[in-house]
Amino acid sequence: MLTCLASVTAASASDVEVLHWWTAGGEAAALNVLKEDLQGQGISWNDMPVAGGGGESAMTVLRARVTSGNAPTAVQMLGFDILDWAGQGALADLNAVAVKEGWDEVVPQALQAFAKHDGKWVSAPVNVHSTNWVWANKSVLDANGIDVPATWEEFEVALGKLSEAGVTPIAHGGQPWQDATVFDAIAMSTGGPEFYKAAFVDLDEDTLGSDTMVEAFRRMEVIRANVDDNFSGRDWNLATAMVANGEAAFQLMGDWAKGEFLNAGLVPGSDFLCFRFPGTQDQVTFNADQFALFDQGGDVSAEQAALASAILSPSFQSAFNVVKGSAPARTDVSDEAFDVCGKQAIADLANAASSGNLYGSMAHGHAAPASVKNAMYDVITAHFNGEFDAETAAAELVDAVSIAK
Ligand code: BGC
Repeated sequence: MLTCLASVTAASASDVEVLHWWTAGGEAAALNVLKEDLQGQGISWNDMPVAGGGGESAMTVLRARVTSGNAPTAVQMLGFDILDWAGQGALADLNAVAVKEGWDEVVPQALQAFAKHDGKWVSAPVNVHSTNWVWANKSVLDANGIDVPATWEEFEVALGKLSEAGVTPIAHGGQPWQDATVFDAIAMSTGGPEFYKAAFVDLDEDTLGSDTMVEAFRRMEVIRANVDDNFSGRDWNLATAMVANGEAAFQLMGDWAKGEFLNAGLVPGSDFLCFRFPGTQDQVTFNADQFALFDQGGDVSAEQAALASAILSPSFQSAFNVVKGSAPARTDVSDEAFDVCGKQAIADLANAASSGNLYGSMAHGHAAPASVKNAMYDVITAHFNGEFDAETAAAELVDAVSIAK
């Protein structure tokens, strides 16, 4: 049914209509790399931006479009959402292009798990982001005698120094997906990888309600105590700007934040620093953007095949991800063009994958399906805003997940 609804499209034959949420400055700069690539091939780009980090609003618009029989040609999508649409038969089969170009050999297994359904490629992986990063203003740290903290305890000491000096320690945007992004890192740091997997991937009740989870929520209260009064509802890129211009010291955010620093003309290592959230130096909680191509009725169109092929080309993977802040979605792309944070992202990813330390981000739909993710968002945000104490939050998480799964 969905396939048939999706077969009517607004795009004309040589267009690709692309639904995405890359509306911040750094994101738009990265997207231009793709637009220009396609325009160079004579394919015109019909832009369908839906603002809202994390993509929840974009997914709502997508559902409405598909229901009204007007699916976009290509849609930015994350993790379990891809598998969900593929399971409904809505996505085009990309196997012809994938096999011809040998995607199986070069795309990391962790991404293939979301890009393939029933043995067929259904989406084109663009990048590998990760959420367990901290972004810091170097002059603010230097002025306050703060070194990069290696442990949670050192991080708390740094936060205390900054507060005393009258600097906002953490720039944060109080939106559910941003609260959850912080929680990815806090949970990994508090409980380690086995805890993270048991809680967010296996949805194990004992782990969700454990003392370790209570401690993770307590640490969220420390974060909450170190954000400014105007955090509520703030967009993530405005929080990044606070770090960029020295109004705040740290932001806990995925590496799309780097795209914003670069777009503001700042240099990693001298103007801003990137480091793994203290206590997660060996782990990577990943979030990969992919473009799912909607079935337009019949075989994948020439424009869709060209888009998929352009996305996977090694030169595009380098050019795009250098600007976006992410690592390439192929293992054979040189890190030469990448800055110090990009080189670290690529090396961390390879190390985490080979040492069993690579986990899907809960906050960005790579640990559990959207229903569970959203249930977790509700509890994490309610707790962050003071509705529950840490013990109640852990108990609420158990209940919310058991209802949602
Ligand atoms: C996406 C990133 C994007 C970020 C903020 C994440 O879910 O994966 O590509 O930059 O949201 O919009």
